[in-house]
Amino acid sequence: MVTNDDLAELMDTSHDWIVQRTGIHERRWVDPETSTSDLGLEAANAAIADAGIDPSEIDMIVFATLSPDHEFPGAACFLQAKLDLPGIPAMDVRQQCTGFVYALSTADAMIRAGNADTVLVVGAEVHSKGLDQTTAGRDVTVLFGDGAGALVVQSTEVGDARHDAHVWDTRLHADGSFAEALWLPAPGMAYERFISEEHFEEGLNYPQMDGRTVFVNAVKRMPETVEEILSENGVTTDDIDLFVFHQANMRIIESVAHRLGIPEEKVVNTIDHTANTTAATLPICLDEARDRGKLEPGMLVVGAAFGSGFTWGSMLLRW
Ligand code: COA
Repeated sequence: MVTNDDLAELMDTSHDWIVQRTGIHERRWVDPETSTSDLGLEAANAAIADAGIDPSEIDMIVFATLSPDHEFPGAACFLQAKLDLPGIPAMDVRQQCTGFVYALSTADAMIRAGNADTVLVVGAEVHSKGLDQTTAGRDVTVLFGDGAGALVVQSTEVGDARHDAHVWDTRLHADGSFAEALWLPAPGMAYERFISEEHFEEGLNYPQMDGRTVFVNAVKRMPETVEEILSENGVTTDDIDLFVFHQANMRIIESVAHRLGIPEEKVVNTIDHTANTTAATLPICLDEARDRGKLEPGMLVVGAAFGSGFTWGSMLLRW
């Protein structure tokens, strides 16, 4: 666990600044030996045990992360080897903070198309090792934490969408004209050499963010996609039992909830102790909602995310 005071020892920041601007009190950082697929494995094992399935039933892995163990192959392949499930398809989804919604949508589409029956959907991130832990990186570094979450998604007969547990719908969006508003510039194949001394000299190996632009777009796009998925499916905010929003900044979440006119008690937040765990955020929220008694079978859940890309999207689940 890393508190705001711990960060203030590394850089020029303060607990009060971080809490006031973001609502974050602490975050988790892995130990140096732990990789993203290690975190994914822990979440996957918990999800498999929770679903009560035999791991051999899994016929596809979709792994959402912006922080894979290596540039290639994807984290899904490393996780697959750790789970000892050779032969099944294993793919990464690199859609940053919206990664879990994209991954769930992919799993749902594969199942609906008859190409898979039981898909393991993982969101996991190790940010800490890639952040600038000096004052130069303080605007980004204080916002992020490490974490993982997973869901097992299985094919099912849906008689009545209003009652039977299933992934009811997902909506995906992107606008690449904002790609450089939140990005990790280097290393990359856009340069003469994939990796060079200049990248380090210019700090291009650390995430760069235009915080205001991200903020303004996040508070617009998340309510928009929630309204879209609800109206497309003939559901209103009153029908929803639980809202899970991407946990980037408490002020963003409050603004989204205000725009949608939803009561505080129907929203579950983790940001105070997790910070922004990017693709791991939504499954962590669902897990904590269940632990807090806010998520029970039969409930209608809507989730929304926004992040680098820009990407954004929503999911409607009958739990
Ligand atoms: N500690 C102390 N001061 C900090 C700081 C930190 N960690 N980070 C930045 N500052 C300073 C800035 O340098 C600036 O100083 P200056 O006025 O002397 O230039 C000052 O605080 C105010 O910065 P500003 O950018 O105006 O603050 P803000 O109110 O816009 O809040 C963010 C900054 C990053 C918290 C806010 O823009 C934000 O949350 N944006 C969205 C980020 C996000 O969600 N990213 C992930 C999306 S998936």
